Amino acid sequence: MALPSLPRRSWCLRLALLVALSALAVPAALGASSSPARAGSCPWMDASKSASERARELVAAMTLDDKIQLVHGDGNIFTYYGVAGHVPGNPALCLPDLLLNDAGAGIGDGQILTTAFPAPIAQAASWDRNLQAELGQAVGSEAWLKGIDVWLAPDVNIARVPLNGRNFEAFGEDPYLAGQTAAAEIAAVQQEHVIATVKHYALNNQETNRDTASSDVAERPLHEIYMPAFETAVEKAHAGSVMCSYNRIDSIYACEQPFMLRQVLKSEFAFPGFVMSDWGATHSTAPAAKAGLDMEMWDDTYFGEPLKEAVQSGEVPMARLDDMVFRIVRSMFAVGVFDDPPPAEPAAYLADVSTPEHVLLARRTAEEGSVLLKNEEATLPLGGTGKTIAVIGTAAGPAGAAAVYGGAGSSHVPLVGTVAGVVSPLQGIQQTALGYGDRVVYADGSAISDAVAAASAADVAVVFANDAEGEGSDRQDLSLGGACIFLECTKTPVDQDELIASVAAANPHTVVVLQTGGPVLMPWLRSVKSVLETWYPGQEDGNAVAALLFGEVDPSGKLPETFPRSERDLPTQSARQYPGVDGHVTYSEGLLVGYRWYDRKRIEPLFPFGHGLSYTTFRYSNLSATPRGDGSVDLRFTLTNTGSRPGAEVAQVYVHEPGATGEPPRQLKGFAKVLIQPGQSRLVRLTLPPRAFAFWDTSQTAHGWTIAEGDYSISVGSSSRDLRLRADVRLAEEGLGP
Ligand code: BGC
Repeated sequence: MALPSLPRRSWCLRLALLVALSALAVPAALGASSSPARAGSCPWMDASKSASERARELVAAMTLDDKIQLVHGDGNIFTYYGVAGHVPGNPALCLPDLLLNDAGAGIGDGQILTTAFPAPIAQAASWDRNLQAELGQAVGSEAWLKGIDVWLAPDVNIARVPLNGRNFEAFGEDPYLAGQTAAAEIAAVQQEHVIATVKHYALNNQETNRDTASSDVAERPLHEIYMPAFETAVEKAHAGSVMCSYNRIDSIYACEQPFMLRQVLKSEFAFPGFVMSDWGATHSTAPAAKAGLDMEMWDDTYFGEPLKEAVQSGEVPMARLDDMVFRIVRSMFAVGVFDDPPPAEPAAYLADVSTPEHVLLARRTAEEGSVLLKNEEATLPLGGTGKTIAVIGTAAGPAGAAAVYGGAGSSHVPLVGTVAGVVSPLQGIQQTALGYGDRVVYADGSAISDAVAAASAADVAVVFANDAEGEGSDRQDLSLGGACIFLECTKTPVDQDELIASVAAANPHTVVVLQTGGPVLMPWLRSVKSVLETWYPGQEDGNAVAALLFGEVDPSGKLPETFPRSERDLPTQSARQYPGVDGHVTYSEGLLVGYRWYDRKRIEPLFPFGHGLSYTTFRYSNLSATPRGDGSVDLRFTLTNTGSRPGAEVAQVYVHEPGATGEPPRQLKGFAKVLIQPGQSRLVRLTLPPRAFAFWDTSQTAHGWTIAEGDYSISVGSSSRDLRLRADVRLAEEGLGP
């Protein structure tokens, strides 16, 4: 659950409160969560009719009070414990309660006995749609078993500023990757009869002044960078709900922004579902209702009595209220909330809904989402016999203690009471090392001299370092700075950069494992042999990291976000761009977000978008690009595993627009993750749709997508800066409409 603008400390207090409540083992009235639906008295319970038909029938049977009750939360989250929001049902109408709950790495808001999956940034870094669908299915089923009807995720806000405190909660800097990841998860969650909520709509790209700042962006980057992930989530995966954000857009609060809600979302994207406000992000009654907000969360300040009066006075047409209600119940019918309601017993709260399969999935996601950034002299995998491995750093977590498994804020997945708990990196490494006859020594790094002593006496030093990201504030800079353990964010006197540099000076075989929610600077990079980024890896942290370090699993993640060399290189070059001046954040970098900026400005990043190494090697060959009659282009190429281990490669497809349109130098438009055995080849087939070649044309009176005539280069490769093959296609001019 969440209140707007809570400082981090409040999150800690809230979590402590939830933990205390859970210890009392007094599950609240989850039992009231779902009213059993009876077909006889409610003709709309006939599942043979379409969702829209059923919704129309239900709306027609509702009184004004019935309708008003459905368009806001009742603020009753302390009775309905373990939820972020609650909308009461109406048994006479066979209308179940709605319980709403966060978040992207699992189930949040104080629910216990669930699986803590890796953070969304790690999910995106896997570039594996099948895995993401499995994860959606697992989270959806856990949510459903907990009595939850609406999942408040995924977050598809683009990583415009890597300092954003919620960087870990979303899918990185590229609209296509974010959209694909979201679509895979949403479709799977909704299969489990839980409505997914794509958020935060829109341009909610920083925590600094998030409740007041206006994000001011031009029409073209709005459509090309910030909207596609929402569009894909809505059009491809049929997300039932969209959450509008705290910030303003062009000076108007996002939850009462008619252009964004009515024009873009409901008209251009033809979104048939409902828009709910972020918690406390509703600021008016008639303006918000008329602009397209359908549900106020978390209480009734504007959409309770004031909305009823506005409808009675005619200020808000009854037809608009009907539309709001229709959209809510239509999504409920479409996803199965009426037909397959979650279990209603109070025992749901105490039910252990994590399964061994889900824990294994959490581990696989952490393994596939980790990115091997650097690996010189084949320092990794470890796997020697009889070696001494020095594990260093508080982030490695002393045995039994919680490691840095997730970020802070509303998306936090508590592990209270979970039997398995978090496997710390130290535990995972100790256990795995046994199988190799290796010896593990540990120094927490709180005294650098102890860490140096341990490192110099060891064959290999593995240093763990973390940052601490959370909702409510941005990171002050991109340095690792002092170590801090999750929720204990007071920094220790140890500077982790200094710790790594000192260890590297003491041991020539130093490996760094980063557990960060986003990019960090690495002043020590040259002096270490290997760097593995594991993000916030969820509860299977130690098992996953050990499997990667020892080579039991081949690293196959790729960066969903550019790692810069310096903060001076960031696309946001002025205070007007970030954090904003006089309440306005000016998106003057336009289309040049993430790698688009580094490529156009020819700035060498520390690690480019799409980068990620493997313990094996891949060869790309024989690219062909064949335009089809319908404007799409078929691609074929061959991938060969030229190394000696099985491994998965993420083959990335970038399109280079012909010069005249002003598009960034190259943009991701397709990818495939392919597992290949050593010495084997796989033929990869992809189809790029016409939209892959279009830009948002503001010169037309209609404003829409246009393909400019010209020669388009299509590159395929292992990262945005490691392109191996290229083919050209000539395309004719074509308007694709909005
Ligand atoms: C967050 C949302 C979250 C909501 C409910 C808000 O503070 O911005 O992402 O879904 O709380 O917990």
